[in-house]
Amino acid sequence: EKGTYPHYMLKEIDEQPGVVRKIIQEYSDANGELSIDENILAALKEADRLYIIAAGTSYHAGLIGKQYFEKIAGIPVEVHISSEFGYNMPLLSKKPLFIFITQSGETADSRQVLVKVKEKGYPALTITNVPGSTLSREADFTLLLHAGPEIAVASTKAYVAQVAVLAIASFVTAQSLGKDIDFDLKQELAITANAIQTLVDSKDELEQIAEDYLKVARNAFFIGRNIDFYVSLEGALKLKEISYIQAEGFAGGELKHGTIALIEEGTPVFALATQEQVALNIRGNVKEVVARGANACIIAMEGINEEGDRLVLPKVHTLLTPLVSVIPLQLISYYAALHRRADVDKPRNLAKSVTVE
Ligand code: M6R
Repeated sequence: EKGTYPHYMLKEIDEQPGVVRKIIQEYSDANGELSIDENILAALKEADRLYIIAAGTSYHAGLIGKQYFEKIAGIPVEVHISSEFGYNMPLLSKKPLFIFITQSGETADSRQVLVKVKEKGYPALTITNVPGSTLSREADFTLLLHAGPEIAVASTKAYVAQVAVLAIASFVTAQSLGKDIDFDLKQELAITANAIQTLVDSKDELEQIAEDYLKVARNAFFIGRNIDFYVSLEGALKLKEISYIQAEGFAGGELKHGTIALIEEGTPVFALATQEQVALNIRGNVKEVVARGANACIIAMEGINEEGDRLVLPKVHTLLTPLVSVIPLQLISYYAALHRRADVDKPRNLAKSVTVE
């Protein structure tokens, strides 16, 4: 039930700090150490390559999962859009493990890949929010998101849960493989939950940003580099699906390869700057669009923020920034949709689970 909330989406956004805390709990063993089922751990360690298959927001979480498994555990990963995989299957490695990321566990595009993969005899793991869902039942293994029912069509807390579970799975695998790890994920996730809380408590400021940047906008752009690029894709999807403002997310470096032609006086550009390594480059991109009249909103991580940035995100571990930077984008989209009197929880033409291919 949405209780006193005007929309499920807002309620689900608010639940996100609790979701991260719940996941930490659910994935801690009796000694308080992060852990996952030993059969799943064995399957992850045995694989020479992971193939992540997903759609929409879950695909965006998958892109971040690739970073985690490659950077933390040293396992190569490919991420594929479910609907493309069927007829555009890459050459597979010798020992693939397929990972299906799906909030509902019912997405037909993903299921058709699972059926094919099982026919070929490959192992499959489903990461889902719904125990007993089709993709959970038909895969060999399941990791649950423990996010509680997500009712709003726009996915918010499931995305955060997916990213958190992917972080844990890659971390535990890395530990078990004896990799050098220089951080305590459990502690970093707890810090992240607090950072998410700070942001969901900043609704007035985020509503103001929606007003300042999107009130009369026909279109909007989201840019980022490195892991911020993937969050830009998610920010654009969120905005278009609920507010119907045409939005595009892309890598900052791609601007001058085409999209900059669309920048006009007042075009809103949201720029994420959470990664120190590329902070100067993304700021360079912002200068380029501002010089052409863009209304740029820089969202930067504490520590690399500068004067004039519109929003400063509380500092978290550099790999966990997507869990934090996505929150303002969700809320900005929510308020943009609200200001346009759109049906936030049930956007036109969309269904919560897409059970047809
Ligand atoms: O249930 P799934 O995670 O498989 O759903 C995948 C997409 O349909 C879903 O993420 C969709 O993109 C959302 N409406 C995005 O907010």
